[in-house]
Amino acid sequence: MQYKSVTVLAPAKLNLSLDVVGTLPNGYHALDMVMQSIDLFEKLTLTRSEGLTLTLPGSFVPANDKNTAIKAALAFFQYTGLLAGVDITIQKRVPVRAGMAGGSADAAGVLVGLNALYGAKLSMSELCAIGAAIGADVPFALMGGTCRVQGVGDFLKALPPCPDCWFVVVMPSVGVSTPEAFKQYDVVGSPVHPDCEQQEQAIRADDLRGLCAAAGNALEHCSGAVETPVIRQLLDAHGAIASQMTGSGAAVFGLFDGEEQAAQAAAELRQRYRQVYLCRPDRGGARVVHGRPLVRKKQKTAG
Ligand code: C5P
Repeated sequence: MQYKSVTVLAPAKLNLSLDVVGTLPNGYHALDMVMQSIDLFEKLTLTRSEGLTLTLPGSFVPANDKNTAIKAALAFFQYTGLLAGVDITIQKRVPVRAGMAGGSADAAGVLVGLNALYGAKLSMSELCAIGAAIGADVPFALMGGTCRVQGVGDFLKALPPCPDCWFVVVMPSVGVSTPEAFKQYDVVGSPVHPDCEQQEQAIRADDLRGLCAAAGNALEHCSGAVETPVIRQLLDAHGAIASQMTGSGAAVFGLFDGEEQAAQAAAELRQRYRQVYLCRPDRGGARVVHGRPLVRKKQKTAG
């Protein structure tokens, strides 16, 4: 099946834990993490075209060749050798410079969308290999669900779904640059090193309290996100079982075991912060949710 256009949803992620376990010769950091997809989605529409365009209605993110969506499209066409193009529109809903992998979700969404649009039938491992060259979080954005993620973000192990819970995610007004956060980590290190193995075992045992006890983020102290402690205090005061920053920041989230308490905490935090999201765990990665089939023009028959 090939399509004229497809609509793709690509979920944001949270880090249920993030540890830095080493530095690689290329300057990247070896990480140990548990990542969780949430039901906050980038919505992409991809339409066949002879050129390559990107539109981001209402977003300040530049639509240039540094954009992960453009990088993903170029990498896809290069890998497949297809002489084709695409018009991409992205309704950006995931906050930027948040540590929620919105840019990686866009890249994953484009790869999945183009694969369907042109019926290319690339496997998940091929898509992950193409995606890893675009951004460290792209393989997870493709896989989604709950994963233990190691290496630079490219070694993924799928875990069972995380225990039932609610997340209240708060994005402060100032975001964080990921390269800057890692540079600062090299200078100051971290007193926090979460036990990701213990968290994996808690998830396998469907134990939310155990998951929360093993939570933590080694980038929290070096990210430069000054509001993190205040937001965490507010989340904790409103009943979060655990709270922490996600990725390299600046978004901070609390975990709740009941919807009512989570909704109440979200309402309270909205009094102080403009970007507050009440989310649930999501079980998949970037996915096509709608396709308009390609109708081929009928060939004229002789006579
Ligand atoms: O790959 P991505 O573009 O998401 O990473 C942004 C920056 O974060 C990299 O340029 C690098 O400085 C830093 N990084 C790192 N170690 C990782 C992932 C990212 O140092 N595992």
